[in-house]
Parts: sequence; C-alpha cells; structure tokens
Amino acid sequence: MIAPTVWKPQPGPQEKAIRASFVDELFYGGARGGGKTDTLLGLWGAHVVECGQHARGIIFRRTYPELDEIIERSRQMYNGMFAGAEYKVGSHTWHFPNGAMLRLRHIETELDADHYQGHSYSFIGWDEITSWNDLKPYHRLKACLRSAHDVPNKQIISTGNPGGPGHNEVKAYFIDPAPEGELIEGKDGMTRMFIRSLITDNKILLQNDPGYINRLKTWAMRIWFALGWPVTGMLSSVLFSVTGKTSRSGCLRLRSPATGLFSGPWTMASRPLPRLHCIA
Ligand SMILES: Nc1ncnc2c1ncn2[C@@H]1O[C@H](COP(=O)(O)OP(=O)(O)OP(=O)(O)O)[C@@H](O)[C@H]1O
Ligand SMILES: [Mg+2]
Repeated sequence: MIAPTVWKPQPGPQEKAIRASFVDELFYGGARGGGKTDTLLGLWGAHVVECGQHARGIIFRRTYPELDEIIERSRQMYNGMFAGAEYKVGSHTWHFPNGAMLRLRHIETELDADHYQGHSYSFIGWDEITSWNDLKPYHRLKACLRSAHDVPNKQIISTGNPGGPGHNEVKAYFIDPAPEGELIEGKDGMTRMFIRSLITDNKILLQNDPGYINRLKTWAMRIWFALGWPVTGMLSSVLFSVTGKTSRSGCLRLRSPATGLFSGPWTMASRPLPRLHCIA
C-alpha cells in the first residue's frame, strides 16, 4: 500500500477517537485490522500539532519484534506528515521539527515499568494492551502522565483485540462499566472511554485487500464473536451514544484544528455531551 503523504482518520471510530482528546484514558478496541495502530499513531500526530514543543510521548509494545511493525508504519506516516521529522534508530525515538519527541519502547512486566519512574509524558500509548498478562504496567505508568508545561490534553491511549492474556482485566476496566462511547469517571478522578473499531470500519484496508475479511473469518473473527467485547449497538453509526447531558464542568477540553493534517469536523460543539458514569 502506498503511504499517504497526509494521514487522515477514516470516518467512523477513527474520527471519533480523534475527537475524544478530552478523555484521559481512551481504549480503542476491536477486531484485527480495524485500524487500531494507525489510530494510535494518528492521535500522536494530532498531539504533536496541538501541544507543540511540549509534546512528550511514549508508545509501548510488549516485545521488541512487535515494535518493528509500529516503527515501520510510523516512518510511513510521520515522514509524510511532518517535514523534517527524524527517527533515531539507536534510541528508538522520533524527533519532530517543532521540538516534540516520541519514544517507541517495549516492556514486558511491571518490573520493566519501574525503569520509567520519574519520566514525564503528555501522551502514553499501549498498542495491543491485551497482550500483557495484566494491567499492572499500565497502572504503574499512569503516574508518568504529567507535564510541567501547559499541555492542553494529556492522554493515555490503548488499543487491543479481544482474546489475549489480559482480556478479562481490560474488559473489566474499560468495557464493563459503561456502554461504548460513554464516559467513565474512575475513583482517581480520571475519565476513560471505550471506542469500538471493527474491520468493516477500515475501508482502506478492505479496498486494498478485499480477501482479508475472509481470512479473518478463519480464526480471529471467531475469537471476536466468542469472547469479543460486547457488541450491543454494533450497527449503530451514531457518534457517542448519547443518553444525557451530564458532564464534569471544565473537563471537556477541545482538540484544536490540526491545520492541513486531518480532515473531518473538529469541534465538539455540534454533538451532545456523552453520558458520564462515576465509579463509586
Ligand atoms: N486512516 C488511515 N489512513 C490510511 N491507511 C489506514 C488508515 N487506517 C488504517 N489504514 C491501513 O490499514 C492497515 C491496517 O490498520 P492497522 O494496522 O492500524 O490495524 P490494526 O487494528 O492495528 O490491526 P492488527 O489487529 O493486526 O494490529 C494499516 O497498515 C494501513 O495501511
Ligand atoms: Mg495493530
């Protein structure tokens, strides 16, 4: 597939995720090939534009070979999006012309997570969060989501297919407390949200590889239907299932338009607020 010179979120869940920059912990979960990794990398691109030199990011995979795929795709995306962006192979770090910095790392256990204590990031990404045995490394590194600068949106983004070793814990944390697209407020005051992506949402992949969905049906789709995240409302294409207008006042921070980089409506003014679920 030819790398786009300008990456744009596809209509549907990818656009929805871009608009959800006000959510502290976003879980973008779905079937294989649904566009999760692209979304994670695209959200970082929006963060660079929005937060400028103070954008500090880190994206994790569980193992180094799994990181290869992200490195490759990030090269395609960021070299097209940001003239002058440079990936330093030795340090596995992207440097952007505006001063922003993104580390790509692998960590396996909670002990590995300890190496990052004292670090500060405005953006933390976990690609395939269900591949970790539990959410201990994830929770340990929440303390690193901080910035001494006035960064408008600090965010942890996770992606994940159902069925990995961390399936149950991820489901209990992100999916069970509230319907898809609705806000959960945790005991620690942080908000979280689950956005569902399906393979059918990745029109670009299906167009370029129409046989992909049939191959998925052989194994991954079975897992999806047997163990998958709840699929209620799956056919609804309504952005953010809205049943109320409750919101923490002041918690809705808008992502500013990323001039020239992304398409689609950028303000949330036209959509009602998602319902807020508080965890007692
Ligand atoms: N917005 C987009 N613009 C261009 N291409 C896209 C976009 N979203 C997805 N794609 C294409 O679809 C491919 C598959 O998407 P992606 O790797 O993000 O899926 P995934 O859900 O992470 O898959 P897996 O479950 O296998 O990790 C990408 O490599 C890319 O070529
Ligand atoms: Mg992926």
